[in-house]
Amino acid sequence: MIKLGIFGVGHLGKFHLNNWKEIEGVELVGFYDPDDVNAAKVAEQYQLRRYADPAELMQLIDAADIVAPTNHHFTLCELAVRSGKHVFVEKPMADTMAEATSLMKLVKESGVKLQVGHVERFNPAFIALKDYHLHPMFIEVHRLAQFNPRGTEVSVILDLMIHDIDIILHLVKSDVKHISASGVAVMTETPDIANVRMEFNNGCVANLTSSRISMKKMRKMRVFQKDAYIGIDFLAKKTEIIKLKGEGDDNLFSFDIETPQGVRTLAIDNPAVEDNNAIRSELTAFRDAIVNNTRTVVSEREGYEAMHIAHQILEKIENSFAVAKSSL
Ligand SMILES: NC(=O)c1ccc[n+]([C@@H]2O[C@H](COP(=O)([O-])OP(=O)(O)OC[C@H]3O[C@@H](n4cnc5c(N)ncnc54)[C@H](O)[C@@H]3O)[C@@H](O)[C@H]2O)c1
Repeated sequence: MIKLGIFGVGHLGKFHLNNWKEIEGVELVGFYDPDDVNAAKVAEQYQLRRYADPAELMQLIDAADIVAPTNHHFTLCELAVRSGKHVFVEKPMADTMAEATSLMKLVKESGVKLQVGHVERFNPAFIALKDYHLHPMFIEVHRLAQFNPRGTEVSVILDLMIHDIDIILHLVKSDVKHISASGVAVMTETPDIANVRMEFNNGCVANLTSSRISMKKMRKMRVFQKDAYIGIDFLAKKTEIIKLKGEGDDNLFSFDIETPQGVRTLAIDNPAVEDNNAIRSELTAFRDAIVNNTRTVVSEREGYEAMHIAHQILEKIENSFAVAKSSL
């Protein structure tokens, strides 16, 4: 039985609590949250012990789940790792690149498992593609959300776009060559809407748009590769592949298109999407990595890489503001 403590039981922390209660092989020991009013409600509702000192709880557990605001991630992760505890930490892994670098070093030295909460990796629409050979040459992503003050302590890049950055880095097996970015702060002090172009050494280009001031929600990724178009709808949990018909595609709906090179046959594939709970899946995967002593699905290295790109994007946006101001 893995003894687990949860640090931060706000909006997302409560989802984690609900899921941990259903995950076999894990015993919830208690939680730490400095907000007295919220903590009293959680202790009552979940019949779970509240610890007033995070260090005390840390000594009683095997693994820590850190769902506190991002500016507290590093302190809590450091406490956990230095105490030899495995860590699940919400995205972004840390507040600054210096913290992320130190955390990677600490994890490497201690040998504990660390998983970062890039939950879209567990979205069933994405999981449905696990056996499909993806080699993207162009990616278009829209992640649009309605305004919600929660999460606005960081920019839309670290709040929303980082999910897509992580997925793209996972899909494109090449280094990033160039980034261009523009963003606008409308409702908060940091960019609320941004458009980014990432160019990779292998020629792939990704175009990302993220907004947290939209009227309608959207979480769509369109992947184009030499032989196929793949549409992933993270919100509706739907996946569609339109590809050149090949061997083994006889059972798929297909149609012909006249081209100057002759008739090409396209086939439409809608891979089965299992209706899973992505949070349950990511937490279960963390448990499994501890039990089986395997790599976590989103490691500290991957959490760091996503942050590294996100921070380069922010720097580009800040520089473009500075240039715009100096030319006024
Ligand atoms: N993976 C995702 O899709 C996703 C979605 C939402 C939030 N998040 C991340 O989860 C984290 C929490 O977000 P939220 O929406 O639940 O925020 P929230 O504000 O609703 O909850 C945060 C909770 O942490 C508590 N807290 C504050 N300081 C703390 C500390 N030092 N130690 C422990 N607890 C502390 C607060 O009292 C509060 O109860 C953030 O890092 C955010 O980026 C991830």
